[in-house]
Parts: sequence; C-alpha cells; structure tokens
Amino acid sequence: MAAFVFTALVSAAGSHGLSISARDSFYPPGLNHTTFISNTSLGTFGGLYTAPPTPDDAYNYCSMPHPHPDAYLRPPPVANHSVSARLVYLEYLQRHQRRTPYNIFPGGENQPYHCDSLHAHVYVAPSSQGPAPIPVYGRAYSDPSNPFLATYVNGSCQYPQLTIGGFLDGYQHGRDLRAVYGDLIPSSPDEDGGKKIWLRSSNSALTQGSAGGVLRGIWPDHHGPLPLHQQASGIDTVDQGFSCSAQSDVLSTIESTPLWNEHLTVTKSLRSRLATMFDADTSSWTSTFDHFADNFQARLCNGYELPCRVQNGSQCATRAQADEVFRAGDWEWNYWWRNNANATLYIQLVEGLFIGEIVRHLEAVQQGASELVYSHNFVHDGDLGPILGALGIKALRWPGMGSNIAFEIWYNRETSASELYARVLYSGHAIETIHGTLDWIPLSSLISILQPFIPEDIISMCQSS
Ligand SMILES: *[C@@H]1O[C@H](CO)[C@@H](O)[C@H](O)[C@H]1NC(C)=O
Ligand SMILES: *[C@@H]1O[C@H](CO)[C@@H](O)[C@H](O)[C@H]1NC(C)=O
Ligand SMILES: *[C@@H]1O[C@H](CO)[C@@H](O)[C@H](O)[C@H]1NC(C)=O
Ligand SMILES: *[C@@H]1O[C@H](CO)[C@@H](O)[C@H](O)[C@H]1NC(C)=O
Ligand SMILES: *[C@@H]1O[C@H](CO)[C@@H](O)[C@H](O)[C@H]1NC(C)=O
Ligand SMILES: *[C@@H]1O[C@H](CO)[C@@H](O)[C@H](O)[C@H]1NC(C)=O
Repeated sequence: MAAFVFTALVSAAGSHGLSISARDSFYPPGLNHTTFISNTSLGTFGGLYTAPPTPDDAYNYCSMPHPHPDAYLRPPPVANHSVSARLVYLEYLQRHQRRTPYNIFPGGENQPYHCDSLHAHVYVAPSSQGPAPIPVYGRAYSDPSNPFLATYVNGSCQYPQLTIGGFLDGYQHGRDLRAVYGDLIPSSPDEDGGKKIWLRSSNSALTQGSAGGVLRGIWPDHHGPLPLHQQASGIDTVDQGFSCSAQSDVLSTIESTPLWNEHLTVTKSLRSRLATMFDADTSSWTSTFDHFADNFQARLCNGYELPCRVQNGSQCATRAQADEVFRAGDWEWNYWWRNNANATLYIQLVEGLFIGEIVRHLEAVQQGASELVYSHNFVHDGDLGPILGALGIKALRWPGMGSNIAFEIWYNRETSASELYARVLYSGHAIETIHGTLDWIPLSSLISILQPFIPEDIISMCQSS
C-alpha cells in the first residue's frame, strides 16, 4: 500500500511544478472562480490526461481511480474497532471507460483512429429454443471513395465507441471490485436465482461494452450471458432519456448569468484561436468547452497526439491550450451542478428520477425488505455529475472515464436496534461534501441529503415552462 500511495503523490505533481496531492487534485479550492481557468500556472491541477494511464490515485481523466485492494480502507470507526459492523449493501454507479470522441472537427482530423483490436458485437438471440445466431460484430472501415471522408476522420472506429484500452480498464476495474467487495458480491451472479444482484445500463453501446468488461472482472468463471436492465430509451431515467423541455429552459437561464458570461470573456481568445485552427466556428463548438475537451481527451486518453489542422500540419493544439480547455471544462461542470443558483432545480429535472430509484433501493435496505445486496449501474458523466452535485461535493471536476460512486451500507452489530450507516466513496475515497466527509453517517442522513433532489411531479415540472 505504501508504494501505491507514494507513486500517486509523485505523479500528481504535474508538469508545472505545482505540488498537489492525489486527494487534493479532486478538490481544487478555486474552482468556483474564473481565475481557475485563466491562471496558467495551475496546469492540470494535478490531473492526469495520458495513455496508457498509470494506476494512480489522483484525478485521472482517462482512468479514474476506483475502489482498489491496495488503497481501500474500512470506515474510520470500523477500522479502529470502536464499532463492529459489516457491509450489507452496495449501490455502485460508474461512467463507461475510455472511448473515441463524440465530436469530430468540422475541418476533419489529421490522425486516424484505430479500433481493429476490439470487436463491436451486436446480435440478438432467442431467450430459449430457436436457432442460436452467429455472433456478428460491427467492423468499422473507411471507404476512400466516400467524398465526406476528407473532412471527417480516417480509420476503423465509430464515434464514439469504447477502445481496447477502455475495455481492459473495465476488466481491471471489475477485478479490483471483486478483490475489495468479495465478501459481499455473490461469487456467482446466479446465486439465489440472481435476486441478490441488479445490473443496469443506459441504452448506449458504450455502457453496455463497459459492462461486459467490468462484469467479466467480477465473475471470471461465469458461463453464459447476463441480463443488463434498461428502460426504454425514449423514457429512460438515465442519460437524459425522457423529453423535458424545462431542462433546456433552465440550462439557458444558468448559461446567461454574469458569472457564466465572465467565463466566456476570459476564454474568448482561446476559443477563437481553436475555432479558426479547426474550422469550428459554430456555437456548438464555442458556447461551451464540451466539444474541444471531448476531442482532446479522446486523443490523449487513447495514445494519440493533440490534433493539428488538416491543411497545415504546423498548426497544432498545444499542451498549454489543452490544459486551459480542461480547466474550463472542469469549471463548467462545477458551475452546472454545484455553483449556480438554479442547480437544485436543474438536478431535479435531469437526474431526479434516477436519484429517486437509488433512494428507493436504500430505503428497502433500511426497512429490511431488500433481497438485493449489490446493484451496479453503467451510466454517463451526465449522470454522475448531477448525483455528485446532489451529494454536495466540495468541488466538481468533470467526472472522467470510469469515474464511480459507491454507496456502502453498513450494519452496526453492536447496537440493539438495527442501525445502519452509510459511506459514500467517489473514485475510491470518501467523498468530501458541504455536509462533511461522508465516511460514516446514519443511512437516514444520507437519504435526507438526497431527498430534496427527487421531484414530486416531474411531468408537470417538465411542462411548466
Ligand atoms: C495562480 O495559481 C498559483 C498557484 O496556485 C497562485 O500561487 C497564484 O496566486 C495564482 N495567480 C492568480 C492571478 O490567481
Ligand atoms: C475511532 O474513529 C472514530 C471516527 O474517526 C473516532 O470518533 C473515535 O474516537 C475513534 N476511536 C478510537 C478508540 O480510536
Ligand atoms: C486513410 O488511411 C488509409 C490507410 O492508412 C490510407 O491509405 C488513406 O490514404 C487514408 N485516407 C485519407 C483520406 O486520409
Ligand atoms: C501554416 O501555418 C504556419 C503557422 O501559422 C504559417 O506560418 C504557414 O504559412 C502556413 N502554411 C501554409 C501553406 O498556409
Ligand atoms: C463554491 O460554491 C458552492 C455553491 O455555491 C459552495 O457550496 C462552495 O462552498 C463553494 N466553494 C468554495 C471553495 O468556495
Ligand atoms: C433561478 O434562480 C434564481 C435565483 O434564485 C431565481 O430567481 C429564478 O427564478 C430561478 N430560475 C428558474 C428558471 O427557476
């Protein structure tokens, strides 16, 4: 364990001479201010954006830390034996692992992406009887006669799709969860007719692909398929599945405040230089940092260089520009889900139904009515962000690839009445919030923290504007 922590401290120091510990890299104290974006000496604030990512306890966008046998500690009062308690329930949420980008430059990309080492399986099979299908897989290719290829991206991928690095990271993530939570997670997913576990994903191929890798790490010897529960895509409670015009109305309010505009002002020259270099002078590229950050992250996280202009290879995004893009992206995530006056309403509209589903799982445990012991949800950054916001995280950087929240429920054996405590880990460590560090709180307190984010009537809220 000592060696692991040592590595983390050293590599989190970053290239700008700032010395930031692995834990501190998650919580930049200045993230509420636009100076966090403009202060170039902050670099990546101890964050890592490299491939292949080294196992590290710092904020590591390409491979976020997760509960790990070398670093996992029991809750403080359990570890020091002042309380005798055992883990009885785990609600686990994670973003999919790393991938190709969603956003290809309007002017095209100067480097191809390669995905030949991963087969994108897509097939259906009757649940019983009937012929077994041939397990076909999608194999993306670029046809040189396609006239659109010149201003798109060459290679053998879909955009987005999981990469081989993402798949392998997921497998390791699952192995580490097995090592940490092996006493709780059933040794076979079929134990008790499968009633102890609940596996859920969004409708996206990214989260399903991640699940295949992670679950293999958890159950290395399992034979046969496993069900991954999904709601219908048109009304899914994750990944913004259901339609709700109030979401975009509130977002427009949030993105027209003086503070939001200040962040556009301090980044004006950066945005205009990148827009010119990559022919990306449209509002979808320049009104937030989502697209540039996504494009750069996908390059760096999968072993490619930062991009250059297709027509002129001497015009390239610099590392300093990428760092500023990442700081601006972090600032925006913190602003959307924590530091704007309408954050609670926005979280209710976007994520409130899913937060309600999580709370119902926790309440069933509280009432002793749960057969479930382990629920694992494969979702997106856009799901993790609002939930971290609801928990009141002290500062919210963009939840990176494979970022994860573990809601642990512990049963205190010593008290006469059944007494349940909760701990919430974010990327493997007790989350630091405006309610304190959530390392040992009554389960009822955790439910009280989340309750205000569950909408009473989402249908009328969605229609109300
Ligand atoms: C920029 O960040 C550095 C490192 O935290 C700090 O010492 C300096 O005061 C900051 N500068 C400004 C202008 O905020
Ligand atoms: C054990 O840890 C808890 C929580 O940090 C603390 O309140 C308590 O005093 C500690 N007890 C002992 C015996 O060290
Ligand atoms: C795409 O890559 C192939 C294989 O490397 C190469 O032959 C072809 O010229 C490339 N096409 C473009 C438009 O860059
Ligand atoms: C390519 O960009 C460089 C740097 O901006 C510039 O000096 C050069 O003239 C450009 N080359 C062409 C062919 O446009
Ligand atoms: C940032 O703003 C949020 C919400 O307004 C607040 O709860 C938090 O304490 C602030 N953080 C700092 C470091 O000032
Ligand atoms: C956003 O918050 C402000 C300040 O609390 C409030 O006046 C306004 O009504 C809110 N906007 C919406 C759309 O709820």
